[in-house]
Amino acid sequence: MLVDKLKRTNHCGDLTIKDLNKEVWLIGWVSKKRNLGSLLFVDLRDRYGIVQILIKTDEIEVPEIRNEYLLNVRGIVRKKDVPNKNLKTGEIEIEASEIILINKSEQPPLIIADETDALEDVRLKYRYLDLRRPVMQKRFITRAKIVKAVHEYLDAHDFIEVETPILTLSTPEGARDYLVPSRVHKGSFYALPQSPQLFKQLLMVAGFERYYQIAKCFRDEDLRSDRQPDFTQIDIETSFLNEDEILTLTEGLIAKIYKDVINYDVKLPLRRISYDEAVNTYGSDKPDTRFDLKLVDIKDILINNEDKLFKDNKYIKCFKIENVANETSRKVQDNYNLTAKKFKLNSYIYLKFLNNELEGSITKFLSNDEKNALINRLSLKENDLVVIAVSNVLRNVNFGLGAIRSELAKKYHLIQDGTFDILWVVNFPLFEKSEETGEITPCHHPFTRPVDEDLDKLETEPYKVYSYTYDIVMNGFEAGGGGLRIYDQETQERIFKVLGFSEEDIQRKFGFFVDALKYGTPPHGGLAFGLDRLTMILSGTDNIRDVIAFPKNLSAVCPMTNAPRPVDDAQLKELGIKVVEKEKVDE
Ligand code: AMO
Repeated sequence: MLVDKLKRTNHCGDLTIKDLNKEVWLIGWVSKKRNLGSLLFVDLRDRYGIVQILIKTDEIEVPEIRNEYLLNVRGIVRKKDVPNKNLKTGEIEIEASEIILINKSEQPPLIIADETDALEDVRLKYRYLDLRRPVMQKRFITRAKIVKAVHEYLDAHDFIEVETPILTLSTPEGARDYLVPSRVHKGSFYALPQSPQLFKQLLMVAGFERYYQIAKCFRDEDLRSDRQPDFTQIDIETSFLNEDEILTLTEGLIAKIYKDVINYDVKLPLRRISYDEAVNTYGSDKPDTRFDLKLVDIKDILINNEDKLFKDNKYIKCFKIENVANETSRKVQDNYNLTAKKFKLNSYIYLKFLNNELEGSITKFLSNDEKNALINRLSLKENDLVVIAVSNVLRNVNFGLGAIRSELAKKYHLIQDGTFDILWVVNFPLFEKSEETGEITPCHHPFTRPVDEDLDKLETEPYKVYSYTYDIVMNGFEAGGGGLRIYDQETQERIFKVLGFSEEDIQRKFGFFVDALKYGTPPHGGLAFGLDRLTMILSGTDNIRDVIAFPKNLSAVCPMTNAPRPVDDAQLKELGIKVVEKEKVDE
């Protein structure tokens, strides 16, 4: 067999001027080929990089060579006349003395290089070729390094890795479950875990004290650039630590990951801001503070304004962007109408400060005093742009402005590449109103511990109850989150009741869990990082699909395997399942 004869002394990407005149054997794929008469130049690529092979076609026997053919090359390392500064191996080339064709390739359907113009669905269909691109391989090396750092750190801090089931019961992270029908128990279903939340808490009841897991999680929710239906968490739980101790322990892990993976020194301790401050100041519970653009309340300035817009709306806030008013056309403003609509703003308005005066459609409704007060409050300078949002719901004003704030920061390039902004958002409310149903729902999940001082408001003013919770925010992404948990049955049952669960619901859904709380449960808490999001941030992409080897597209389809697919009738019969035609389901 040819494979027994393959020789390899070096990797393509490792060779440098230090290897001059050495004889080497390499294995790699043809990345590029240039034919100059009796000279043939081939860029040979392996996992470690690319090196140029020089082939004198008159002097040695040359097999057929095309892109993505796999070759075994023997040759001598020579100095290049004109070095290529873009390549690590750019000072040298290999003068080939023997070339063995290991395997041929069809013409690939996408350009296999860092820059490719292929549509994402083509990349996903031929993912094994897309993953040959050096930029992609680098991201997976980053991902593997993160996992290694996690194992090292948590192992050094006495954590035990424990696996929890994939076929389980519904877990309450707020998304829809993926269900798996049982063949043995027809009509019954397992649910895939949205996270190992309940199991890790039970491991604390079991006395494991420090648990972690690189855990697969499954959530059927609308997909976005930072969301996948199956994704991976670095899941952590501890007993007997208070919130501060958990945050400190986690900060050590974050610092190690940044240091080991990208050699970046994270300054500890990380900044902590409360949920209320984050939302009021940045319009987001995951604020990107790499740029300023703080929200400013201006209702008091317009309190006596007779214009309907200002009179009829309780909340008026704004932020300014320096030195961009000239660049902001009507069209730019229209771009954000959709965002404003999504956040149900009653209105959003632009003002420009040009020639020492406020310009904009609403200025005719503003008195000189009001204008001056605005100019002073915002310390406006020539060419500043002011974005104002108006609503009767404070949440809409904050989150609406927050979304426009992020979009404009990108548009006006206010974010410096390669910078990292890491902070904790702490002290979330325990409950929020579901946007879908309008009903009370947990901000994190129903096992989160309310802060002691708010316990007596649980039934009377539930929305005013805060919790021991924390999210870790990196560059405006929620990279992880967690909290302290309820460890007594009584509080747990009170929370379930506030959420509207009947006694029967509680028994059916969480009976096993509530039972466990009766057996000397230790105080405990933890958190989970999104491994995919962390990898995204550390490898500088904003697309989660770039850091998952075989992801789904935005329609939750894998274009390579074509999953999900209909299954054979026989399989369905065995499961006792009948598929109803789509039209009938939609009725
Ligand atoms: P949470 O639901 O906040 O908490 O999830 C933790 C982290 O997981 C990541 N994440 C996702 N990543 C990709 N695609 C998704 N669909 C997705 N959903 C979540 C995020 C998020 O911060 N059991 C709790 C943790 C705890 O309390 O210990 C939990 O799952 O980065």
